[in-house]
Amino acid sequence: MSRLIIVSNRVAPISEGGPAAGGLAVGVYDALKETGGMWFGWSGDVLASGQPQIQLEERGPVTFATIGLVRRDYDQYYRGFSNATLWPAFHYRADLIQYDRHDFEGYRRVNAWLAQQLVPLLRDDDVIWVHDYHLIPFAQALRAAGVKNRIGFFLHIPFPASQVLLAVPPHRQLVEALCSFDLLGFQTEPDLRAFCDYVVHEAAGECEHPAKNGSSTIRAFGRTLRAAAYPIGVYPDEIAQLAKAGARGKPVRTMKATLHGRKLIMSVDRLDYSKGLVERFRAFERLLDQVPAMRNNVSFVQIAPPTRADMHAYQDIRLQLEGESGRINGRFAELDWTPIRYIHRQYERQVLAALFRESHVGYVTPLRDGMNLVAKEYVSAQDPDDPGVLVLSRFAGAAQELEGALIVNPIDIDGMAEALATALAMPVAERRARYRDMIGRLRENNVSVWRDNFLRDLKRSGEARPAAR
Ligand code: G6P
Repeated sequence: MSRLIIVSNRVAPISEGGPAAGGLAVGVYDALKETGGMWFGWSGDVLASGQPQIQLEERGPVTFATIGLVRRDYDQYYRGFSNATLWPAFHYRADLIQYDRHDFEGYRRVNAWLAQQLVPLLRDDDVIWVHDYHLIPFAQALRAAGVKNRIGFFLHIPFPASQVLLAVPPHRQLVEALCSFDLLGFQTEPDLRAFCDYVVHEAAGECEHPAKNGSSTIRAFGRTLRAAAYPIGVYPDEIAQLAKAGARGKPVRTMKATLHGRKLIMSVDRLDYSKGLVERFRAFERLLDQVPAMRNNVSFVQIAPPTRADMHAYQDIRLQLEGESGRINGRFAELDWTPIRYIHRQYERQVLAALFRESHVGYVTPLRDGMNLVAKEYVSAQDPDDPGVLVLSRFAGAAQELEGALIVNPIDIDGMAEALATALAMPVAERRARYRDMIGRLRENNVSVWRDNFLRDLKRSGEARPAAR
C-alpha cells in the first residue's frame, strides 16, 4: 500500500490517544495510521536566528515532520500573503486585502523551501495530500524538484468569485499553481463553480463536468487535472459521546446552575472577522429590543478564542466586539443577569460539546466560511429526544447540507433576530424532525467518507495526468 503524506501549514498537536483537536485532524490521522505515512508542516515556532532544522517524531506507523520558520518567512508567508492577502480575498473581504509583492515572493520562497525539505523524505509511490491556502504553490515546487508522485490539494476555505479573486494581483500565478496538482478538492459545489468560472473566463481553459456524480476535468495552463467538491464532515457519534460525558463534568454543571433555568444560545468561533460576530451580537440585541419577554429569560454565550492576534485586522475586530458586548450588556443587564457572556479563551472539545448539548440554540452565522465544522459539531452533540435548533448562515459551506437548520443571511439583523425567536419557541416535534434530517446527513457523510472519496479520486487521477516530465 502506498504511504500517505499529509502536508499542511499547521500539524495537529498530537497527544498519546491522537490529535487533541477535532474533525479534520482526527480524520486525517486515522488515514495515516491505516496506511502509514507522514504529516509534514510548520512546527508553530518562529526562530529569532539560526537555520531551522526538521524535527522527526515517530508515533507507531506515523512520522511527524515539523520545521520552524525564521521571522522574515513567518512575516511574509504566514502573516503577509497567506493571512493579509489570501484570507480576506477568499472570504470575500476585498476591503481588507493588503498586498505587498515582497510578501508574495516570500510566500513562493517558503513554499519552495518547504518542498525542498520534504523531497529527501519521499518515496516513489507516496501519495501526497496538501491542505489549504498557505500551500497553493506546493505542487509546482515539488514538480520543479523532479517529484512525479500523485499530489492532491484540498482547500478548506471558500474559493472566491472571479471578480473578487482578480483583486489579488498575482491571481493568475495562483490559479496556474493550483493546476499543477492532480486533484483539487473544494468544500462545496459553489466553490468548484467559482474555480471553473475563472479557468474558463480568465484563463481560456476548459472545465468539463461529468454527466453524473464524479470529478470534473480541467484543462488549463497546459495541464489536465481533476476537481470536485468534497464537503468535510465530523464523526457525529464520537461527538455525541463526548457531549454526554462532558455534560456530567463540573465546568458544565456549574455553568448550567448559573442559568437558573434560562434558555441558552451558544456560539463558538475563532475571533475572526469572517465569522460575523458583530452582526450576531446586534441581532441578539435586536431580539431583546423587540421581544421584551426574552429579557432575563435567555443568555447568549459566545466563546471566541484568540487567533492571529499579531495582525491589525484581528486586533480591530476584537476591540469592536468587546465594545459591542459591553454596550449591549450595559443596556440590558440586570443585577442577576448578563445577556452576553463573551469569553476570549479556548475550551476543551469535551466542554464545548457538552455546552452545545445543554443549549437551546446553536448560533452559527459567519459572513463566509468554507464549511464551518462547529455547525456540524453542534448538531452531533444534541440529545435526540430534546435537541436544540441550529441557526445557520447561508454563507457557511455547511448550509449546503444542513437543510434542517434555520438558514439566515448574516447581515440581516432583523432576520436573524426573528430566527432566534423562532428557534427559542420551536416545539419539540419540529426540533426532532429537523435534528433527524441533519444527523442522518452527518452520519452518511462523516469525515471518513470525505477522506476516502478524496483519496480514491486522487489515486485515480493519474489517468488524467500527462506523461511525467
Ligand atoms: C482555518 C484555516 C486553517 C487554519 C485555522 C486556524 O480553519 O482553514 O488552515 O489552520 O483557520 O488558523 P491559524 O492561522 O491559527 O492556523
